[in-house]
Amino acid sequence: MKIGIGNDHSALDLKAEIIEFLEHMGHQVIDYGTNSSESCDYPIYGEKVAHAVADKEVDCGILICGTGLGISLAANKVKGVRAAVCSEPFTAKMAKQHNNCNILAFGARVVGAELAKMMVDAWLNTEFQGGRHQHRVNLIMDIENRENSR
Ligand code: RB5
Repeated sequence: MKIGIGNDHSALDLKAEIIEFLEHMGHQVIDYGTNSSESCDYPIYGEKVAHAVADKEVDCGILICGTGLGISLAANKVKGVRAAVCSEPFTAKMAKQHNNCNILAFGARVVGAELAKMMVDAWLNTEFQGGRHQHRVNLIMDIENRENSR
């Protein structure tokens, strides 16, 4: 898979570990930054990865900031994006199985590298179940469409 990754200054070390993990699994990773340890604004990188996912430049995305909150909130403003903040593998798995989330987010100040890898693995290697869950995801996307024309 082709996976976009983005982060703020709080997540440089964790991002490097996740990129190595993804490449080791045979995925291609596109890094949308930041690669500077200087304090920066997470919405910039959330939006970059969200656009890459929405425009199908990549198959899915991973976002990391201090908590995973700000960067996922920013990504969720982009049409077509469903970004889920997770801190353990069960929720990461369900984020794909039931919610078909196309971005996984987590916090570098919340989870360690091994837990983050377990979440990434669970999310990437789970299939969306469809059926009644497709209907519910459609209802979420209907809200987005209605809000855009409000
Ligand atoms: C940066 O200090 C911090 O606010 C950011 O990484 C993130 O946790 C925001 O949601």
